Amino acid sequence: MNQNSIIPLFSTPLYHTHTDYIMDTKEFDRLSKIEWYGDPKDVSVVSNSQRFFDDYEFDTLKSIFTKHKDFYVDEVLGMKNGFDMTQSWVAKTSKGKSHPPHDHKNNIFSIVYYARCESGDLVITTRDNFIGQKWNLDFNYKTIRNIFNCTSYTCKVKTGDIVILPGHVEHMTTPNESDFDRYIVGANYFISGPIGEEKKVTKMNVKLNG
Ligand SMILES: [Fe+2]
Repeated sequence: MNQNSIIPLFSTPLYHTHTDYIMDTKEFDRLSKIEWYGDPKDVSVVSNSQRFFDDYEFDTLKSIFTKHKDFYVDEVLGMKNGFDMTQSWVAKTSKGKSHPPHDHKNNIFSIVYYARCESGDLVITTRDNFIGQKWNLDFNYKTIRNIFNCTSYTCKVKTGDIVILPGHVEHMTTPNESDFDRYIVGANYFISGPIGEEKKVTKMNVKLNG
């Protein structure tokens, strides 16, 4: 058979990387002692602050977020538009808990940093894959799905990882089976500044308020 190429055309830009940044004991201690909101019986408790990077000094992590955000916008999305952080938070998930499927609204993309993750994967889900959506047919697939016909993708995450996912992408987590709580720092980003073109009658200037 001749060499061929399969092109993942019109795909969703899910970004997953490992960073060298692992919080040292002192910094992790500071993170775990922030003010928390929510009942411990909930799927997870979140920081009382939804402006985490403004309210707490985690400048190294903030600059890592900016570095990966810039790469994602420049190299992956290939956009000239500006994107600013709108809200940021910390979520803590204890043993046996998991996040049900959800998306992040009022948000173009989110960055998630795994401050401590001994167990539990991020699972991207969709009601139907691209092929099914396009033809609206109930195709019969082989047992093992591939990137083109799957309806879920498991992102195996660990401490120090960063994931960037578009806000419309539905996702969930598998249960934390570790005795150690799982901590993530998340941030949402929205377009800021000029977008569109006057001649196309799409011109806007987006100003984000605090
Ligand atoms: Fe989420």
